[in-house]
Amino acid sequence: MRLQGKTVIVTGGGSGFGEGIAKTFAREGANVVVNDLNGPAAERVASEIALASSPEVKHGRAIAVAGDVTRRADWQTLFDAAIQDFGSVQVVVNNAGTTHRNKPVLDVTEAEFDRVYAVNVKSIYWSVEQFVPYFREQGGGAFINIASTAGVRPRPGLVWYNGSKAAVIIASKALAVELGPDRIRVNCINPVMGETALLSEFMGMEDTPENRRKFLATIPLGRFSTPQDIANAALYLASDDAEFITGVALEVDGGRCV
Ligand SMILES: NC(=O)c1ccc[n+]([C@@H]2O[C@H](COP(=O)([O-])OP(=O)(O)OC[C@H]3O[C@@H](n4cnc5c(N)ncnc54)[C@H](O)[C@@H]3O)[C@@H](O)[C@H]2O)c1
Repeated sequence: MRLQGKTVIVTGGGSGFGEGIAKTFAREGANVVVNDLNGPAAERVASEIALASSPEVKHGRAIAVAGDVTRRADWQTLFDAAIQDFGSVQVVVNNAGTTHRNKPVLDVTEAEFDRVYAVNVKSIYWSVEQFVPYFREQGGGAFINIASTAGVRPRPGLVWYNGSKAAVIIASKALAVELGPDRIRVNCINPVMGETALLSEFMGMEDTPENRRKFLATIPLGRFSTPQDIANAALYLASDDAEFITGVALEVDGGRCV
């Protein structure tokens, strides 16, 4: 029970990596606020935690809060719901993210560009606006931002997604040095491609075994990442075991970035 007594917000917690993080954190004793743009998905994950209806989930309490991480007002709602139900917040996991489909750079529309930067980067701006004053007053806190190997080792066809994740990584490091004196830790996780709803968008081609093999060949450990891989890293960074760790961007990538 490495997160006993902590309350954690997980954005985009209604599927994929965020669902894995929310369930793992609950299993380790955390109270979890599951946010997602997709309200029913957030409700499903929170109720599976609350009812302990899936075999791997045994502990923790959870609530669902639908909301769009690109909107200031929705961050206020998220904060208010967390405080009302659980009394305090120790960790914010900025996991919600999106991409434009893998395609040549000149085919990415302005609307796609704006959406990718709003969901992947501006969301972190709002999370900082909302939580840094509170964490300062509380005497500390932690942000875990889900970036990507794309921000370190870009693939062709994903130019603006790559750029957005590099922005997440450097902003997180800058936040870590600026907020360290306030005992606010800021770390990133860089997952390699994983089997979530985003996989076919990243590949930009039909999801066939043959196409998958092309991408798997670039990962030395020979498989895609799983929500549990990402959750295991997030669990460490959220726990007191990582109390002296800030400003890292931890690759969870089977060696892709070496
Ligand atoms: N899957 C991969 O290959 C991969 C690799 C590296 C990094 N990532 C990153 O991992 C994170 C999670 O992605 P995933 O792969 O689990 O995908 P996913 O699509 O399964 O999950 C993303 C979740 O975020 C939610 N979301 C999207 N926009 C939102 C918004 N504006 N407000 C609130 N919620 C929103 C979606 O509804 C969805 O439930 C993202 O930041 C993604 O960029 C994914």
